[in-house]
Amino acid sequence: MKKLRILVLMHEDLIPPDSLKGYTDKEIVEWKTEYDVVSELKDMGHEVRPLGVYDDIGVVRKAIDEFEPHIAFNLLEEFHGNSLFDYHVVSYLELRKQHYTGCNPRGLMLAHDKALSKKLLYFHRIRLPKFQVLPLDKKYSVPKRLKFPLFVKSLVEDGSYGISQASVVYNEEKFRERVSYLHEQLGTPVIAEEYIEGRELYISVVGNTRLETYPVIELMFGENSDDILKIATSKVKWDWAYQKKHGIDTVVAKNIPQETRKRIANLSKRVYKILGMTGYARIDLRLTEQGDIYVLEANANPDIAYGEELSCAAEAAGISYDALLQKVINYGLRYDPLTRIS
Ligand SMILES: Nc1ncnc2c1ncn2[C@@H]1O[C@H](COP(=O)(O)OP(=O)(O)O)[C@@H](O)[C@H]1O
Ligand SMILES: [Mg+2]
Repeated sequence: MKKLRILVLMHEDLIPPDSLKGYTDKEIVEWKTEYDVVSELKDMGHEVRPLGVYDDIGVVRKAIDEFEPHIAFNLLEEFHGNSLFDYHVVSYLELRKQHYTGCNPRGLMLAHDKALSKKLLYFHRIRLPKFQVLPLDKKYSVPKRLKFPLFVKSLVEDGSYGISQASVVYNEEKFRERVSYLHEQLGTPVIAEEYIEGRELYISVVGNTRLETYPVIELMFGENSDDILKIATSKVKWDWAYQKKHGIDTVVAKNIPQETRKRIANLSKRVYKILGMTGYARIDLRLTEQGDIYVLEANANPDIAYGEELSCAAEAAGISYDALLQKVINYGLRYDPLTRIS
């Protein structure tokens, strides 16, 4: 394997230490992805330079000029504190003809906007929960077209930010309460969707034109979880003590008929293509008792930490963490924005 110079782009507060020793779970969870990627790439023998970025594109320019990386490994999810600016940084890399990992700017932009992506998917007859956007600074009424219970969340945040048990509302009063709360606390538009009861599944897609999918992963809840709704709240996702208490885990999904698995794989590849994604992504789905598959969202550049859904799924397909990172790098090196057509 060729040794590469790899510039790892990350938020300036998330530059990881060399070792986990002496850090608490709460501290580690903040920069675990950055730690896993940087340490694994080093172990693989690459020349790795972590680069912290906040609001100055000049540091990226300087690092590219000095280090001349073969590829930029993109772990940056925001710029200037704004998660909607993520794709501008990737656009800059493209303007510099700098190879990078993960999704191209257009795919990032489309996937990030939950309403825009749903409109595109809806056009292609992909099954989705019915939804309505509740913009900031505008009067809104309770959506008449939608049936309670509703799921109320930020239009643009991810990582389950702003999602709790209170996200599911059963009446108008709670609906208004939750929308106002999110408008005020997060300062973003809100989206309300019909709540889809069912198994929560994640499928990872990797590639640029020829796509690979990995085994379906399921979010599972253990014995002490009868009194909570089975949804991926921020606690479910990020609070390791809460996970332990409720026996929450993401595991390879069992008891899914072969035909359904095929449908899930084909559906997820269609979603990936419709949204113009490249690199790697994770599609979040819900499978109802009747066997209907609903797309909840498509995540461009999902968490690539060791043990998260993507690496878990890859491992189930016989692809170790280092092989997964190398694959992602290879797709990045092969991707050419100039020859890409939609
Ligand atoms: N319409 C819905 N029906 C049922 N559960 C939902 C719905 N929308 C979101 N959820 C739950 O909330 C979680 C996070 O929602 P998602 O839209 O994926 O936001 P994020 O971008 O923060 O991951 C989902 O994984 C799922 O558990
Ligand atoms: Mg999600």
